[in-house]
Amino acid sequence: MCTVCHLPKSFCNPTVGTMAIISSKYQPQEPSKKPQEQQEGIKRVQIDNVLSPQTGSEEQGKLENCIRPQKFIDYIGQEDLKDVLEIAIKAARSRKDVLDHLLLYGPPGLGKTTMAMILASEMEVNYQITSAPALERPRDIIGLLVNLKWGDIIFIDEIHRLSRMTEEILYPAMEDYRLDITTGKGSSTRVRSIPLAKFTLVGATTKVGAINSPLRDRFGLVQKLRFYEVNELSKIVLRTAQLLKSPLSEDGAIEIARRSRGTPRIANRLLRRVRDYAEVKLLGEINQDVAAEALQLFQVDPCGLDWTDRRMLSVIIEQFNGGPVGLETIAAATSEDTQTIEEVYEPYLMQIGYLGRTSRGRIATTAAYQHLGFKPPNEQMLLL
Ligand SMILES: Nc1ncnc2c1ncn2[C@@H]1O[C@H](COP(=O)(O)OP(=O)(O)O)[C@@H](O)[C@H]1O
Ligand SMILES: [Mg+2]
Repeated sequence: MCTVCHLPKSFCNPTVGTMAIISSKYQPQEPSKKPQEQQEGIKRVQIDNVLSPQTGSEEQGKLENCIRPQKFIDYIGQEDLKDVLEIAIKAARSRKDVLDHLLLYGPPGLGKTTMAMILASEMEVNYQITSAPALERPRDIIGLLVNLKWGDIIFIDEIHRLSRMTEEILYPAMEDYRLDITTGKGSSTRVRSIPLAKFTLVGATTKVGAINSPLRDRFGLVQKLRFYEVNELSKIVLRTAQLLKSPLSEDGAIEIARRSRGTPRIANRLLRRVRDYAEVKLLGEINQDVAAEALQLFQVDPCGLDWTDRRMLSVIIEQFNGGPVGLETIAAATSEDTQTIEEVYEPYLMQIGYLGRTSRGRIATTAAYQHLGFKPPNEQMLLL
């Protein structure tokens, strides 16, 4: 039995697949500026943690492996992606071949790593997990490639951050399963080719546009993950609640799902916060009222917006008449770096139709005006 989730060990420690997380050199990127609120002592840290789609410390432990789906059947939503991959798996298996190289892209927390693990388990092969910042030197990637066995899956997270040298080693490796090693200098330069076992590279990125086209072109399958619908997220939290042995009603699950920014990682995290709240207050089953009460405490609004989202929109509305406003200006007003705004905040705000992107900058939509309690510009015009 697993001491964390009380399930048989075979569930949270899958027998197929071995995981090597090569991340010793991984350093999370420092935001370029210290948020103004931290300098001013405004309480904001807690809100960021709860709604951040990035992996938090509590999601790196054993509990995460217990709740991570291990099979296609448990992977909820992303039907188009699953259809494509199920066909690719069946075809590869019937030909007794390896899976094509696959590039998964989309915002953080949507299930890219989970899908790579599921692929390995469905193909009954081993997998290695690493991330681009851990493959800085040529010997890092060479070490990985020469140790692969036939059919193995190598998963490279944040693949848009690969160094040029590592990318160049990958080109012949992906195309012809060959390592080209250059020795000597000048006229005595020699290239030695070493054959590699046939393998599958699964790359994941939040910024597909930042991947060089020679690398992108070497992926046989390029698939986008989309934000989840409320009904899909509520199924995900109901499943997690069952694994955690937390009583959760359907309306409680929907309440959590509505505030989860279309992201399973956030949904599972909000469930854990609500579970703590219900346990401490001895509230028993988590229903809609309990979930709403608990999430209000964490200042998660009914649409899952946090302080930064609201600040971004209110700056555009109040200071720039609804926009267009440049990304740099928004970044300065919210004390966030432009990368975080582009990769984390904007995709969700655009998905729910609160933010628009034009060639001249970002604009707030009528829905954003209404959500924040401002009069939309066309209504103001009508009043004149
Ligand atoms: N389709 C899904 N169904 C159920 N749970 C999911 C799904 N996608 C993601 N999750 C949950 O969300 C968490 C984050 O997923 P992960 O694969 O790490 O995201 P990413 O690699 O895209 O950042 C996982 O631990 C998993 O429990
Ligand atoms: Mg991941």
